[in-house]
Amino acid sequence: MKTIIIGATSGIGRALAEKLIMQGNEVTLTGRRLALLEEIRNTYPDKPVHVAEMDMADFINARKIMQMLADINGGFDQIIINAGVGFGKATFDEEIKTIDTNVRGFVGIAQWAYDYFKKKGGGHIVGVSSVAAVRSNPYAPEYHASKAFVSSYMEGLRLRSAKNNLRIQVTDVRPGFVDTPMTKQNKGMFWVATPETAAAQIANAIAAKKSVVYVTKRYVLLATLMKILPEWLLAKIF
Ligand SMILES: NC(=O)c1ccc[n+]([C@@H]2O[C@H](COP(=O)([O-])OP(=O)(O)OC[C@H]3O[C@@H](n4cnc5c(N)ncnc54)[C@H](OP(=O)(O)O)[C@@H]3O)[C@@H](O)[C@H]2O)c1
Repeated sequence: MKTIIIGATSGIGRALAEKLIMQGNEVTLTGRRLALLEEIRNTYPDKPVHVAEMDMADFINARKIMQMLADINGGFDQIIINAGVGFGKATFDEEIKTIDTNVRGFVGIAQWAYDYFKKKGGGHIVGVSSVAAVRSNPYAPEYHASKAFVSSYMEGLRLRSAKNNLRIQVTDVRPGFVDTPMTKQNKGMFWVATPETAAAQIANAIAAKKSVVYVTKRYVLLATLMKILPEWLLAKIF
């Protein structure tokens, strides 16, 4: 299986990269920090690991790099869009950065991926959203909104694929708390998974071509509850 991961330098993306490498995938790993990608490639000198620097927020350039990598590496069967940013108590600039990366950058790659698999005759798009997609909160409304966008966009791509009888699968991965550089500053986290546990569950969901998956699995309980809570009760909880 030929797989590209957007955002493989750290956290969930890096653990997933290592899991897929060990499962025998030929992987192309991208991110802004090339040295970290080279570190992964050097850890697996006998495995087919390609690396490339890419800034997803610079989506016009990122789409050109996707095409170039597909041409160089003989195409992709799976495109995993894991890259994302989140800031606690974001400034206005950080809120905009979140939208530029998680929304504009995500669409830049996801739309390219759909078009690419349409021409190719099929393929699998995986996007890493979040449990945050389900409801907002008072601390990071821009992050929650960006992930609601990501999940909704992927549902739309699934519907579009079905409507056009295409063989394009779309998996919406919704992690709860995972211990990564992004959550280092967070307080009050619960049900925290290691990146390796999250990666193992994501790899299983990809293999099963699931539509939506909560990681870890118990977060489906929280998501179900969050969906039905009235806003006045949410306000009391926060
Ligand atoms: N950790 C959690 O509890 C949690 C929960 C729910 C969802 N998530 C989601 O899981 C995904 C991975 O996050 P993580 O927790 O593993 O955090 P992380 O360790 O900070 O990893 C984020 C990854 O995204 C990449 N990235 C960020 N901006 C990018 C850009 N402009 N262009 C290309 N790559 C970019 C980073 O690479 P470079 O910095 O090298 O570019 C890095 O590889 C994110 O989408 C996040 O929203 C995380």
